[in-house]
Amino acid sequence: MKQLSVEHLLGIKYLKNTDIDLIFETADQFKKVINRPIKKVPSLRDITIANLFFENSTRTKLSFELAEKRLSADILNFSASQSSLKKGETLIDTVNNILAMKVDIIVMRHGNVGAGVFLSKHVDAKIINAGDGTHEHPTQALLDSYSIREKLGKVKGKKILIVGDVLHSRVALSNIFALQLQGATVKVCGPTTLIPKYIKSLGVEIETDLKKALEWCDVANVLRVQHERMDINYFPSTREYTQLYGINQEILDRIGKKIVIMHPGPINRGVEITSEVADSSDSIILDQVENGVAIRMAVIYLLAQQIKR
Ligand code: CP
Repeated sequence: MKQLSVEHLLGIKYLKNTDIDLIFETADQFKKVINRPIKKVPSLRDITIANLFFENSTRTKLSFELAEKRLSADILNFSASQSSLKKGETLIDTVNNILAMKVDIIVMRHGNVGAGVFLSKHVDAKIINAGDGTHEHPTQALLDSYSIREKLGKVKGKKILIVGDVLHSRVALSNIFALQLQGATVKVCGPTTLIPKYIKSLGVEIETDLKKALEWCDVANVLRVQHERMDINYFPSTREYTQLYGINQEILDRIGKKIVIMHPGPINRGVEITSEVADSSDSIILDQVENGVAIRMAVIYLLAQQIKR
C-alpha cells in the first residue's frame, strides 16, 4: 500500500508532489463514500482523534469532525476558551493529559506559528496542523487544489491569482507551496502593505492592479482582510480597499473571460467580494467546503495507516 512520505501533516512545505497525488487519489474514493446514502466507512474504528482548537474556527473544525465521524473514529473535542489553559496550564501539559487518555491523532489549530512542529517534537501522536498563526493551513491548500483540479481537470499549467490580505494569510502560503508543487503559476494581488516582502523569493509575482491581475488568471482565490491580526492601519479605509481590490461582477464583466472564483471563508461580503460574485455560477466556494471533508478523510486515513495497531 502507498504511504505518505511524512509522519505528520505540519505544512505543505514538507510534502512531495507524490504525497499530494496520493491524498487526491484517496480523497476521490472518500468523495464517492460521502455521496452515498450510507456516508460512513469502518476504517478507523480503533483510532481516537483529539481536535484541539486554540483559535476560532467554523469550517475547519466542523469539516475535521465530520471527516473523523465518516471514518468511524472516536473523537475528543477541545476548545481553549472552556479549558484549564485559563488556569495557567501549559500546551504540553494539556496535550499530555489528553494523550494519557490514549489519543492517536491530534488535529490542532493554534495562533502561534510553528505550534504543530513544536508539538510533534514533544508528544507521541500524529499531528495535523489545522492552521498555525499566519504560517500554514495545509488541509485548506489541499482542498483548494483538489477543487481546482475538479473544476478545470488539472492544476498543472494553470494561472492562479491570490487576491487580498496575503500578509496575514496562512491560506496564501500553503496554497503557494501546493500550487507550485503541482506545476501551477501563482501571482498575488493586493495593496503593497499587505504583500509580504519575501513573496518574490518564493517565485511568486506581484501585481497591484486588480484588473490586470484578473485578466492574467484562470482562477482567483480571494482572501479576507484579517483585521483581527492587524495592530496598525494597512490601508486608509475599508471603502477604499473595496474600491481597489474588491471583486465585483462589473470588473469581471469588463475582463470578458471566465474566471473560477474561490474563497476559503469566512467571507466578508461586500468587502473583498460581492454576494453576486460569491454566489455566482463561477464560484466554487461551496465545492471547496464539500471537498474539505473528503480531503480531511484522506489525510487522517493515510496518517492512521502508519500507526502500529
Ligand atoms: N477556511 C477556514 O479555515 O475557515 P475557519 O476559520 O472557519 O475554519
